[in-house]
Amino acid sequence: MIARRILITGATGAIGSALAMVYAAPGISLCLHGRNKARLDEVAQACRKQGAEVQTQSLDVRDLGELRSWLVTLWAEAPIDLMIVNAGMNTHVGADGCNEPWSEAEAVLDINLRATMAMCDELIPFMRARKTGQIALVSSLAGYYGLPMTPTYCATKAGVKAYGEALRGWLADSGIQVNVIMPGYVDSTMCTEMPGPKPFLWTPERAARRISRGLAKNEARITFPFPLDFGTWWLAVLPSAISQRILRLLNYRV
Ligand SMILES: NC(=O)c1ccc[n+]([C@@H]2O[C@H](COP(=O)([O-])OP(=O)(O)OC[C@H]3O[C@@H](n4cnc5c(N)ncnc54)[C@H](OP(=O)(O)O)[C@@H]3O)[C@@H](O)[C@H]2O)c1
Repeated sequence: MIARRILITGATGAIGSALAMVYAAPGISLCLHGRNKARLDEVAQACRKQGAEVQTQSLDVRDLGELRSWLVTLWAEAPIDLMIVNAGMNTHVGADGCNEPWSEAEAVLDINLRATMAMCDELIPFMRARKTGQIALVSSLAGYYGLPMTPTYCATKAGVKAYGEALRGWLADSGIQVNVIMPGYVDSTMCTEMPGPKPFLWTPERAARRISRGLAKNEARITFPFPLDFGTWWLAVLPSAISQRILRLLNYRV
């Protein structure tokens, strides 16, 4: 399927803005979302320069009422071919080993998981009626196995992975493609603020090109970079006692 109308949440962030630029071209209509209006306008302008038609929306995805009504309005204007659910947040345990701040843990749950599921819940009936559409959910390699510094983030990304895989199976015969994107470390504000080692760091531009290629081929799981994908996959497969030891040896500890 050739996606002509593409929605990207978190288009003000590193990966989201790089994705917008990868897709921006004549004949493409982009619906870009982010809370930072000044940054959103900048990204929109850059995409228009590349020939895309662009509309923007600034809202907090935790407001599910506003989020859902935006999707309904968008669809009423014209169907969405590809929805990339990318907006996300992270938190981590304190340097002294204290809990993740609960208010932040709740926000991570709401943004990474609840908003993602609400967006799918809203658009799937429209896509099913149209018998076509593509939904890409941004999870993380951190969704394979829980990392000690970021328990809530890992839980949400494991949730997004499982949810996306389930949707792919459920909707396979409805003409809807569902893809789970699992990046490793990509240079961004979120990544920089996260404690711990960041091996095999990719630029957002490289990540966006890899993601767009994977989506064009309808890959079930779009994972990168290979060494980190291979390593984290093994963490999930090995007995947990061994995985825990490996993480400590690699300095993934509080
Ligand atoms: N970078 C990595 O290493 C990495 C690795 C694996 C997965 N990921 C995932 O990739 C996605 C993009 O992350 P990134 O690295 O590009 O991070 P980023 O540069 O920090 O961007 C995060 C984006 O999410 C948006 N966002 C956060 N909270 C929001 C809220 N409450 N309502 C609406 N929008 C909100 C931000 O919008 P505003 O700035 O406008 O508020 C921003 O556009 C996330 O889902 C992340 O978990 C990243």
